[in-house]
Amino acid sequence: MLKTIGIISPGEMGHNIALVLKKHGLEVVTCLRGRSPRTLRLAKKGGVADLPSLRAVVEASDLILSVVVPSAALPVGRSLAKAIASVKKPVLVADANAISPMTSIAIDKVVTAAGGKYVDVCIIGSAQRLEKGATFYASGESAEKFMGLQDFGLTTKVLGNQIGQASAFKMVYAGLTKGLSSLSVELLLTARSLGLFDQIIERYRLSYPEIADFMSRMLPDLPWRATRRSQEMEELSATIKSLGLHPVMAPASGKALKRLGELTRSSGWQEPDEGQLNLKDTIEKLYKGLKESPDKSS
Ligand SMILES: NC(=O)c1ccc[n+]([C@@H]2O[C@H](COP(=O)([O-])OP(=O)(O)OC[C@H]3O[C@@H](n4cnc5c(N)ncnc54)[C@H](OP(=O)(O)O)[C@@H]3O)[C@@H](O)[C@H]2O)c1
Repeated sequence: MLKTIGIISPGEMGHNIALVLKKHGLEVVTCLRGRSPRTLRLAKKGGVADLPSLRAVVEASDLILSVVVPSAALPVGRSLAKAIASVKKPVLVADANAISPMTSIAIDKVVTAAGGKYVDVCIIGSAQRLEKGATFYASGESAEKFMGLQDFGLTTKVLGNQIGQASAFKMVYAGLTKGLSSLSVELLLTARSLGLFDQIIERYRLSYPEIADFMSRMLPDLPWRATRRSQEMEELSATIKSLGLHPVMAPASGKALKRLGELTRSSGWQEPDEGQLNLKDTIEKLYKGLKESPDKSS
């Protein structure tokens, strides 16, 4: 029986999950110690109760969702494991980050060794449209318990009974959207530099209308999220390597997104800019940023 959900942390995805769960009658808690002013603001917006420690979150929660950034997923798993061991409560932890199956298996190990239960989860869909098309895929023996969230506004689906399946699924999915995004930015910046932006968009619309729509929809929101997405591509590269394959596109996309994230930060690109720029303005802003801060890496 689910009553209280812990969310680590209420960033863009976390606070939107909180809004849906609260709307459907669940309590949502977190611990904001050490978090940025942005997360504090989003926690308030999502109506998430701030508890003094992770220990208190474990005590209060029936299920804890980790929605951080890929690089923080394992450290957060370790901190939760410590809290679980001290409370001695077999709470269910769901890592819903875009991480490799190996990272998910590592989190499973620390959480279950501490006495907790673990489910591998990935989210496909936008944080702003959770109730309109986003799906939470789960795998592992505790996946059925996670399915309980479908009674509280989220769409859930079991992928299999092994830890790592949901994360691997997300890796392959994310590789397409992030790979296509980074290639599109590179091509459109080239077209802008050549004075051919409008012409190439028109040609893309004729030849590949779905890809042209994808560019218009996805690229204006990309800059602010580029750093997190570059971490997803690092996790994808590790996933591909673990299978004995040789990743080429994933690391290249990761590098391009990392550079875009640095450019976004150095040009003071603020989150509220998103949704206010169209594709052309976004590419123009990136073009000007690159002119002021040229890429010296090879
Ligand atoms: N946004 C989406 O539409 C979307 C869609 C599908 C999947 N996801 C997945 O959801 C996860 C979160 O994405 P997001 O868009 O919500 O990112 P975000 O807005 O950057 O939020 C990340 C949150 O994690 C917190 N955090 C970072 N390091 C932490 C740590 N060591 N301990 C505790 N909290 C930490 C951040 O706090 P600070 O502000 O203090 O750094 C922030 O609140 C990602 O793994 C992503 O792949 C997101």
